[in-house]
Amino acid sequence: MAVYLTGDTHGMVGSKDFDRFEVWNFPEGAKLTRDDYLIVLGDFGMPSDLFDSDHDLRSLAAKPWTALFIDGNHEHFDYLNHLKIEKWHGGAVHRYPRYENIVHLMRGEVYDIGGYSFFCMGGAQSIDKAIQQSWGTWFPEEMPDEAEYANARKNLARYGWRVDFVLSHTCATRYLAEAIGDKGFIGVGAVNDELTDFLDEVEDKLEYRHWFCGHFHRDCNIDSRHTVLYRSIVDLEDYL
Ligand SMILES: [Fe+2]
Repeated sequence: MAVYLTGDTHGMVGSKDFDRFEVWNFPEGAKLTRDDYLIVLGDFGMPSDLFDSDHDLRSLAAKPWTALFIDGNHEHFDYLNHLKIEKWHGGAVHRYPRYENIVHLMRGEVYDIGGYSFFCMGGAQSIDKAIQQSWGTWFPEEMPDEAEYANARKNLARYGWRVDFVLSHTCATRYLAEAIGDKGFIGVGAVNDELTDFLDEVEDKLEYRHWFCGHFHRDCNIDSRHTVLYRSIVDLEDYL
């Protein structure tokens, strides 16, 4: 079993994103099976519109692997939150009705994948909220609610606050400046909120090997145990 990770896909509609998983960018993908996983770290964004023209999902579902994703801030939550919830590898997931190999890893859940435990905490605050609101693509569900924080704390307690990997969209408050970097994040500085503060609490209490996040639209290692991903596709084996 192989596990690969990548950052925001934004519905695969961008000119630099539509072919991220094609063989010239991701040759390893051609050798994978349904028992191998590619994880998108939020801002998955598919379907890319609300009218069910799911060509993006169809093209992803045609790949030989299983695509897993946590949610980010740019998702169609009206669509996601109406999907069927099932149990999958020890945690709750949303399943797309027609695509068995596309699975939404839900907030606060812990999954056992290939003998490794993964704590997942999607969501983030949109810094482009005003634009998204004018397009009708902003949803208050981009940020976790109290029940989702409580679910996370309950599941982490069940695991004795010890997992192998953490997958989040944004990062803990203490790493925001590093994650954003010198150039700023689309011209915006650190956005400290209750979710980044919650992730700070997780940093204090949780034992883990490595933490991966998306959101910041750059690829970098903050330190030896924190990786920010965007268009890079990395092999989990390199972080074991
Ligand atoms: Fe994004």
